Amino acid sequence: MSKTNEGWGSRVGLILAMAGNAVGLGNFLRFPVKAVQNGGGTFIIPYLVSFLLMGIPLLWVEWSMGRFGGRYGDHSTPFILDNMTKKRFWKYFGVFGIFTNVGVISYYTYIESWTLSYTIKSLKGDFLGVPLNQVGEMFDHYVNISGGINLPTWGLLAFIVTLGINIYILSRGLSNGIEKVAKVAMPLLIIFGVFLAIMSISLGATGKCADCNSHIGLNFLWKPDAKSLFNPTVWLEAAGQIFFTLSVGMGTIHCYSSYLRKRDDIALNAMTAGWMNGFVEIVLGASVVVPIAVGYLGLDWVVENAGFMMAFKTMPFLFDQWGPALAVMAGVAWFGLLFIAGITSSLAMGTPWMGFMQDEFKWSRNKSAWTLGLLVLLMALPTILFFEYGVFDEYDYWTGTVSLVVFALAEIILFAWVFGIDKGWEEITSGADMKVPFVFKFVIKYITPAFILVIFLASLITPEGGDWSSIFNGNYKLSSQSIIGKILHVGETNKSWFVNGQPSKLFFIDMSRVLLISLFAGICFLVHQAQKQRSKLK
Ligand code: ALA
Repeated sequence: MSKTNEGWGSRVGLILAMAGNAVGLGNFLRFPVKAVQNGGGTFIIPYLVSFLLMGIPLLWVEWSMGRFGGRYGDHSTPFILDNMTKKRFWKYFGVFGIFTNVGVISYYTYIESWTLSYTIKSLKGDFLGVPLNQVGEMFDHYVNISGGINLPTWGLLAFIVTLGINIYILSRGLSNGIEKVAKVAMPLLIIFGVFLAIMSISLGATGKCADCNSHIGLNFLWKPDAKSLFNPTVWLEAAGQIFFTLSVGMGTIHCYSSYLRKRDDIALNAMTAGWMNGFVEIVLGASVVVPIAVGYLGLDWVVENAGFMMAFKTMPFLFDQWGPALAVMAGVAWFGLLFIAGITSSLAMGTPWMGFMQDEFKWSRNKSAWTLGLLVLLMALPTILFFEYGVFDEYDYWTGTVSLVVFALAEIILFAWVFGIDKGWEEITSGADMKVPFVFKFVIKYITPAFILVIFLASLITPEGGDWSSIFNGNYKLSSQSIIGKILHVGETNKSWFVNGQPSKLFFIDMSRVLLISLFAGICFLVHQAQKQRSKLK
């Protein structure tokens, strides 16, 4: 609990920073790939329903929890949650709101550093005239995927520079650092995105193959198809995307809105930032990678090869088809856009740690920022050095996927049932510049918690191959992608840490879990210490 000099300079700045928090790599890299992997248009209905019944309610809940906490001088989730109830254990759920961010930043800033390097490479014309397979190899070489435990020197250097930029901006504070960046970066991102979308839509049929037509790609993503409504796996994926893209269940929204004043609107602000994210994701995010790739390589190729790395391994080659000048422009726009999207999100992820250390241990802004940098560097090194052993994916799974659902479930129960929906509704609607539809009081109390609970339970026990009917016909097998399957290493043939005297993939995966658990425990310890100090002061 602390008096703070931090605050937002303007409403526009706040909305752009909040939109920047949400608009991230998830909008341009994760969304199109998830959509393709889940059948294109079949993804869009579960996605929109999840946005309406889970995303929007969580936005309102988190914005109002943050503003509520700020009134008591709390700027991170442990003590925001603590203040909403008399039961002391809730603050340990709040630990997720710091843990998730440190965990996600540790691999997210690494991807951000790829986008920085690739912006520079595009500007230098490094991809001009390079065939598709070699563009792919350049990326493999960059992250040293096939090189064993060698130091990926350039990758590491770019990462340190990217992290340094983040930490410097964070050390400048909210209105002087994050807000200033957001005010320049977000409009630039929209300009880059619209330019690429126009290029993509005007591409049409290229004649490279029978169905090489960017419009086929757009149709594939946008044409709603109701058959997925009965496929729980598509629902799980769509809901997971909503969590990640809106940054709900993370703790960043609470932190940003804790710097609002008591009478400031949250209802309309939350909707503006949320819908801006939706526009960037559904309109711009869907208009770049997939349609352009379909335009040159065909829909079948894209469906077979869709993956996160396409942005790096395929796009530079496709831009090259437009001639050198446009290729350079498109490369800079694409990787520059990704860098902006990434950094405005990673900055938000840095703030809960800083808010916590400043509130509880009276650390200066600088000290909080630079210690965060050190912590992130320590956590990130394994993902960089042992990238090919799955450390990166492990971080993404536990901190970027599971952790969000667990925290969101805890906070919505706290908000609607422990704090109480009547008080909660009062928080959401006070100072509101829009009329919040009354039906959402019911949705927040019943529908959203039930929705998240089902998502969580289904993720625990997802059946192999997404065959949900197997639960009823006796053929059930646990998927290696389910939470329990991951914990038990289902499907892993090698069960030992060392093979021929060398550490196995399993060893690296288990060690990254030990690291993540230690991080969580370390933050619990800090929260415990903070509570002791608070008790002394009373
Ligand atoms: N919301 C951020 C993204 O979409 C984390 O990347």
